[in-house]
Amino acid sequence: MRTLLIANWKMHYGPMKAGGWIRAFRRERLPKDLDIAVAVPHVSLAASRASLGRASIPALAAQDAFWAQDGAYTGEVSPGMLLEFGVQFCLVGHSERRIYLGETDEMVGKKAATLQAAGIVPVICVGENEAQLKKGEVSKVLKAQVAAAIASLKPDGKTPFVFAYEPVWSIGTGKPCPPQKAKEAHEIIRSAIQKKFGQSAAEHVRIIYGGSVDAHNISEYVTTTGVNGALVGGASLDPRAFALLCRTANPA
Ligand code: PGA
Repeated sequence: MRTLLIANWKMHYGPMKAGGWIRAFRRERLPKDLDIAVAVPHVSLAASRASLGRASIPALAAQDAFWAQDGAYTGEVSPGMLLEFGVQFCLVGHSERRIYLGETDEMVGKKAATLQAAGIVPVICVGENEAQLKKGEVSKVLKAQVAAAIASLKPDGKTPFVFAYEPVWSIGTGKPCPPQKAKEAHEIIRSAIQKKFGQSAAEHVRIIYGGSVDAHNISEYVTTTGVNGALVGGASLDPRAFALLCRTANPA
């Protein structure tokens, strides 16, 4: 399975700065054996695409999409609109959206299914918060989030789906989850997928880790069984640092 690394700019870099990031990143030496994507704000998709031209590395990703293709949904953006920029991946259910915008498991499930049906790979973010961790609820929380997210997904269509395990207590805190703990969480996620879609489908789903990943710790994750890549926030804001992280993930 190919390792997948996704840069998540979050709410950084509007159209004036996006092109510069893309150009600087593309000047770096980039490994060929990895899938690399960059999740940019919607308003920066056009500038990012313009800087990329027909180049496919990094792949373009969005940070969110609505669950309908068009209609009276003021302020929202549909998967079809994202396709016009050549978007290949789209984050859904990032914890910042769950926390600040009240996104529910049900909304996340609807968004993931609509993206997949449109041909964009949903990257579904799940993970426990600190209180849930302390109460020993990691497994319960993950199972509920995964079940809702995959309720309407298809296991064998031409568009796959990806999960990102992102423990909320680790995001932006400089406290990475120990790889062994991440491995356990990934196993819980994979077995929830297996329950619904069977062994072979579960084996082919990429589950990536996110939360304080940087060039120093990336190799610990990508060498951990069942961890198929990373979602990188803060350490992706500098294109050279993110390129170094990519090379470290795959020194070949
Ligand atoms: P971080 O963010 O790498 O800054 O911890 C990860 C994420 O939220 O996707």
